[in-house]
Amino acid sequence: MCGIVGYIGKKEALPFLLEGLKKVEYRGYDSSGLVVLKEKAKCVKAAGKLEKLEEKTKKETIKGNFGIGHSRWSTHGPPTTKNAHPHSDCKNNIFVVHNGIIENYKEIKEELEKKGHNFLSQTDTEVLSHLMEDFFQGNLEEAVIKALGKVRGTYALAAVALQDPGKIVAGRMFSPLAISVNKEGGFVTSDPAAIVSYSKKMIFLEDGDVAVIKGEDFFIKNLKNKLKEREETKIDWDTEEAQKGGEPYFMLKEIKEQPESVANSFRGRLIEEEGTAKLGGIESVEKKLRKIEKIRIISCGTSYYAGLIGKYMLEDYAGIPTEVDLGSEFYLPKIDKKTAFLFISQSGETADTLSALKEVKNKGGLSLGIVNAVGSSIARETDAGIYNHAGPEIGVASTKAFTSQVVVLSLLTLFLGRQRDMDIDTGKKFAKEIKSLPFLIGKILENMEGVSKLAKKYKSYPNFLYLGRRYNYPVAMEGALKLKEISYIHAEGNAGGEIKHGPLALIDKDFPVFAICLSDGVYGKMISGIHEIKARGGKVIALATQGNKEIEKIASDTIFIPKEVKILSPVLAVIPLQIFAYYVAVFLKKDPDKPRNLAKSVTVE
Ligand code: G6P
Repeated sequence: MCGIVGYIGKKEALPFLLEGLKKVEYRGYDSSGLVVLKEKAKCVKAAGKLEKLEEKTKKETIKGNFGIGHSRWSTHGPPTTKNAHPHSDCKNNIFVVHNGIIENYKEIKEELEKKGHNFLSQTDTEVLSHLMEDFFQGNLEEAVIKALGKVRGTYALAAVALQDPGKIVAGRMFSPLAISVNKEGGFVTSDPAAIVSYSKKMIFLEDGDVAVIKGEDFFIKNLKNKLKEREETKIDWDTEEAQKGGEPYFMLKEIKEQPESVANSFRGRLIEEEGTAKLGGIESVEKKLRKIEKIRIISCGTSYYAGLIGKYMLEDYAGIPTEVDLGSEFYLPKIDKKTAFLFISQSGETADTLSALKEVKNKGGLSLGIVNAVGSSIARETDAGIYNHAGPEIGVASTKAFTSQVVVLSLLTLFLGRQRDMDIDTGKKFAKEIKSLPFLIGKILENMEGVSKLAKKYKSYPNFLYLGRRYNYPVAMEGALKLKEISYIHAEGNAGGEIKHGPLALIDKDFPVFAICLSDGVYGKMISGIHEIKARGGKVIALATQGNKEIEKIASDTIFIPKEVKILSPVLAVIPLQIFAYYVAVFLKKDPDKPRNLAKSVTVE
C-alpha cells in the first residue's frame, strides 16, 4: 500500500529518501513526506504528486545523515498535507512513518488526549508517535517496544528521535518491512524496489521484530525485548523486478497477494463474538439504512460481477431485494427514498459509474460506495462508503480488487442482516467463513503449478465457455472476462441452466467448458449440464469441492477448492480462474499486465 524508506549513514539522507520514494511511485499514492535529522529535525510533507514534495524540499535547507520518508495511500483521513507522514509527538522529538492500520487507535487517542497530548491529524498513525512519547525516557527502541505492546492491528513502521540520535528503529506486524546494512549505510524499506540499487542483501523482518539500525550496525529484538537472529536474503532483482516483488508480472503478484488483501478488507471490521460487522464508513447513515427496502448496485466490468454476487448475499441473508445495473445501462426515471444506491469501483473514477452516481445525487437518492482508491471521485461524492483496503492494483485485469469487493459486500450483508432479521448464530457462521478466507486462499495458491499445467494443455483452443449457477454464475462471467481480457481468446460466461437454451449448439471437441461445480445446492443441476456437454463430445474442466470423488470420473480435468466455505465460495472459486487466465496469456506470450486496447481506469463514457 504505502511506501516506507529510511537511511542512516555517512551521506546526506535527503537525496536517498527522494530517490527511494520515486522507486515506490508505481504503487500509487496521494501524499508524501520525509524528515531528516541533524541538530534539528526538518520535516516536509505535501499532498499530491511526489514533485510537490520535491519542490518543497528545494525551498529549504535540509541537511543531515539520517531520516525517514513515506508515500501515503490513505486509509484513515483524506490525503491532505496534515495527514501525510511522518507524524510527530507533541515535542517534535519523535517522528514515525507507518503502513497498515492501528485498529484500536480511537481508544489510545482518547487516553492520550486525556493526558494532554495534542493531535494534529485524522490518522490512526499519529497515535504511534504520541504513544512512543509517553514511554520515551531517552531510548527510542524501548519506547517503540512499549508502544507496540499496546497497539492492535498491522504495521510496518520506522521511527527516529532527535533526543536519541544516530538510529532508525523499525518494526513489523503483518506488513512487509526489510532492512539492509552495508558500507553505504543502513537502509529500511517496505519495498525492496526502493533500495535494490544500493544493496542486494536484505533482512526481511518477521512479525513482532523491532530492528535498530545504526549505520553499519544493527540488531533485532522482539516485543519481549529479546535479541533475535535473522538471516540475510540475497536478491538479484533490478528495480523493476523488485517492484513486482520478484514476480514476472504485477498480475501474478496481485493474485498471490490475495490472502493478505482479503484479510486487510475485513481486518478490524468483523465482530465475531457478536456475529456482526462494524463499518465505520457507513456509521453516519446507519439510521437511514435501517429503513431501506431495496438496494440498487451500480458498477462496471469486474466490479459489476462482484455486485451480482452481492445481490445473492443481500437477498438471501439480509432479506433486502437488490438489483444490479451496469453503470452504462443505469437509468432512474423516479427516485424512491427507500432505495439505497451502492456504487462499486476499484478506481473510483470509472466514468460510467460516476455518471450514474451523479444522476442519483441530482435526484436526491442515498448513495453508498465500495471503493478501493481512497479519495477518488466516487469515494468523495457518495454519502458514505466502505473502502476495500486491498492496496493498489496495477495489473489492468482486476484480481485482488474483485475478491476484496466480495468480502466487503459480505461485511455489508452481515451488517444489514443483523440490523434486520439475521440471528446471531447465522451472523457468527457468516463471520467465521469470512475469517477463514485468507488461509483457504493460501491453500489454493499452493496448487499454482497444477492450474498452470492445465493452462498449457488448453492454451490453443480458440473458444471457451464458463458455466456456473447462483453465487458462482457471476464467477463464471468473471473467469471468462479474465481469459478474454489478457489472452484474447473468445470466452463467454453463462448461467449453468442456460446451456440447453442455446450455447450447447456451439459445443464440440474444440470448445472446452469450464464448469464451476461445487458441492452446494445447485450441484446436481450442474452435473446434469456437464453430462449434456460430455454427450456432445465436449471437454469439461470442472472446478469442484475437495473430497468430491464423482466429478473426476465425469470431467476431463478437475481443479479442487477447499470445502470449508459455502456462502463465500466465489472468493475461492475465482482464484483458479485468475491463475488459469494468467498462465494461458503468458504461454501465448501476451503481456497480462497491459492487455491491448484496455485501460485500468476508464474515464470516458
Ligand atoms: C476497466 C478495467 C476493469 C474494471 C473496470 C471497472 O474496464 O479494465 O478491470 O473492472 O474498468 O473499473 P472500476 O475501477 O470502476 O472497478
